[in-house]
Amino acid sequence: MSPRHFLRLDDLGAAELEALLARAAELKAERRAGQGHPTLAGKVMGLLFEKPSTRTRVSFESGIYQLGGYGMFLSQHDLQLGRGEPIADTAEVVSRMVDGIMIRTFGHERIAEFAAASHVPVINGLTDRFHPCQVLTDLFTWYERRGSIAGRTVAWIGDGNNMAHSWINAARLLGFELRIASPEGFDPEPDLVAAAGDRVTVLRDPKQAAAGADIVTTDVWASMGQEEEQAERERAFGGYRVDAALMEEAKPDALFMHCLPAHRGEEVTAEVLEGPQSVVWEEAENRLHAQKALMELLLG
Ligand code: CP
Ligand code: NVA
Repeated sequence: MSPRHFLRLDDLGAAELEALLARAAELKAERRAGQGHPTLAGKVMGLLFEKPSTRTRVSFESGIYQLGGYGMFLSQHDLQLGRGEPIADTAEVVSRMVDGIMIRTFGHERIAEFAAASHVPVINGLTDRFHPCQVLTDLFTWYERRGSIAGRTVAWIGDGNNMAHSWINAARLLGFELRIASPEGFDPEPDLVAAAGDRVTVLRDPKQAAAGADIVTTDVWASMGQEEEQAERERAFGGYRVDAALMEEAKPDALFMHCLPAHRGEEVTAEVLEGPQSVVWEEAENRLHAQKALMELLLG
C-alpha cells in the first residue's frame, strides 16, 4: 500500500482537517497541563532541509520528541543529496529507515518526486509552491480564538507565493472568502485560483481586499531563493504594506497573521506586528501543536 502524504493542504478532506484542528487543541491543552502521551513512541521522523528554518525545524523536532519519537535533522549540506545523489535514490534509502519524512525544498516537483519513491509518509515543510503546515497552523490559530472559519473573509496582502497558494487551497476546502491583493506580475497561480471558484478573488487594491475582513495576513516580499530580486520587489510591493491604516479597513476585531520571519517596515509595520490584533507569536507556537496532530494522523 502506498503511504499517505501531506504535500498540500487539500491532501486532507474538510472533515479530516477539522478533526485534526480539534486534536491539535487537545494536544495543546495536554502540554499546558504537563500530560503528554507517547502516541508515536519509537517512531523516527527524518527532517530534510534544503532551505533555512527556525520554526519548522524546532516545532517538528520538539513535536516528535514530545510524542515519544525522535526527529533526525538532515541538511542538504551533509547528505549525499547535496553532492548529486538523485532525490529518488535518497527517498528509497532514507524511507527504509524512518517512519516519516518532512522536507523543506525549492521546486514542488522535488518533494513530489521524493514522495513518489518514499515508503513512508512525506510532509511538506515548505516548497516554492506551497506551505501547508503553516496554513494548517493559521487555521488552528483562528479556530482556537473564533471557531469555524466558514463564511468568514481573509485578506492576503502582497506576494501570490507559497503561503498565498496554501490559503487558496484552504478557502476551497473550508468555504471562506479569500481576497488576494497583489501587484501586477506577482499574482498567485491562475489554475489554483480557478479551482477555488468564487471563493477566491485576486485584486490590485489592498484596501479593497482588507475591507471588512476577519483576518489580514501577509508575508515577506522576497521569499527564500528570491534574494536577488529584493530591490525589484521592494519597488513593486511599496503599496502593499500592512499598516494601522490598512487594519482600520478590516473588522475592528480582525486578527493579523504572519508566518514569520517578518521584515518590520517592509510588508508590515512594527506597530501592527506587535499590536493587539497580532497573533503572530501564537501562530509560531501553534506549529508545534498542529504538526503533532498531523504526525499522529500520518504516522500513528
Ligand atoms: N514560518 C516558517 O515556516 O518559519 P521557518 O522558516 O523559521 O521555519
Ligand atoms: N514565503 C516565505 C515563507 C517563509 C516561512 C518563503 O518561502 O521564504
